[in-house]
Amino acid sequence: MNLPLPEVRRPGMIGTASVLEHTRTGLCQLDASGRLLYVNAAAAQLLGAEPARLLGLRIQDLVPLRRADGPPRQSESVELLLALREGRAATVEGEPITRIDGQVFQADCLLDPVRVGGVLDHFILSLVDVSKRWRAEEHGRRVRCELEQRVASRSAELREALDELNAVTERLRELSAHAECARENDRSRIAREIHDELGSVLVALKLDLSWLGNRLQDRAELVTKTASMRRLLDNAVVEVGRIITDLRPSILDHQGLWAAMEWHAQEAIRAAGLGGGIDLVGVSGYGPPEGALATAAYRIFQEMLNNVARHAHATSVDIRVGLEDGGLEIVVEDNGRGISADALSNPRSYGLVGMYERARHFGGRVSIAARGKGGTRVRAWLPFEPAFPLTAHAAMEIEHDSPADL
Ligand SMILES: Nc1ncnc2c1ncn2[C@@H]1O[C@H](COP(=O)(O)OP(=O)(O)O)[C@@H](O)[C@H]1O
Ligand SMILES: [Mg+2]
Repeated sequence: MNLPLPEVRRPGMIGTASVLEHTRTGLCQLDASGRLLYVNAAAAQLLGAEPARLLGLRIQDLVPLRRADGPPRQSESVELLLALREGRAATVEGEPITRIDGQVFQADCLLDPVRVGGVLDHFILSLVDVSKRWRAEEHGRRVRCELEQRVASRSAELREALDELNAVTERLRELSAHAECARENDRSRIAREIHDELGSVLVALKLDLSWLGNRLQDRAELVTKTASMRRLLDNAVVEVGRIITDLRPSILDHQGLWAAMEWHAQEAIRAAGLGGGIDLVGVSGYGPPEGALATAAYRIFQEMLNNVARHAHATSVDIRVGLEDGGLEIVVEDNGRGISADALSNPRSYGLVGMYERARHFGGRVSIAARGKGGTRVRAWLPFEPAFPLTAHAAMEIEHDSPADL
């Protein structure tokens, strides 16, 4: 190759010239204004022309500002050009450089000013072709960018779907709360109607039967018949009372939640033959929750005790009702076989789901767990601020009242 080698003045320079010509790093000498004074063989090859054609070209003209794959650049934002203008050193990675044939390659560039007597005399510019690496990185960047865009658009779709799902869930919850409220109203109405209509008919029948019995003193077999009819009627009265209480215990409406819970706990414990009892920790001094909140608390409590009776195989149950953390706390602990993880996570455990949802509707929560020592602990908490402490007289009345009968 015909190269304009630097003047050989000192012994040993021929060795330096050989190094310059045989290194694979492109080396250029530029004058203070950026014109090429010297290019080594590697630089000539990179720039795509014989050194003679390159000398005198301004390096600034080989740094493209307009790029096919990106927005145009301002020369002030191109570090290499800025450093040339300011006469200082620069290290630039992946700078695009235009070859003589117009093609562009990416080079890592080192620019170093050389001063003579403190004045800028020329620059040394080294160029290493990194197009391959750069293309690989560029490809990586593009793939990453595409992936990020796809992830972003999938995330947006998912977020939308999730919002929709949340909205549907919320509507279902409202619907279920509404249905529950309607069901509760129906139960109250049916209980009232059975009480008023059937109750009064049964009482009238009993009176009529007594009247009849009194007039049949001399007809032994008819007296026996009326006595058996009276027994049947008495059973019917008890049965009707039970049905009414199952539908809606009147004690809840007449004496409030504390009394209703105490009564129900005693009934449930007696019916299931369990040990243990209910402790109303300091609540009887306070007016109980009323209306829908009282109904929800009562229904949750009923489900807790039903589950103990039906599933726990327990011999004893401890019930605690108290005011905790600005709310009403109900804890039912049995010493039975313990609830299974399957039952807890089963979406078809409708009794449990009903408890969760009822509490949630009022801003409360229910937690259920198997106890380490065996058995199950169910805790419900419902936000509730008792409006006022009851007077001592009213509290005593509640404690001594017996549950309302039919
Ligand atoms: N106190 C408990 N002890 C043991 N298992 C329980 C207890 N409470 C509930 N379970 C289990 O959880 C399941 C789901 O309860 P629940 O949703 O109330 O449904 P259901 O009472 O109608 O069977 C029950 O079938 C039972 O296996
Ligand atoms: Mg149940």
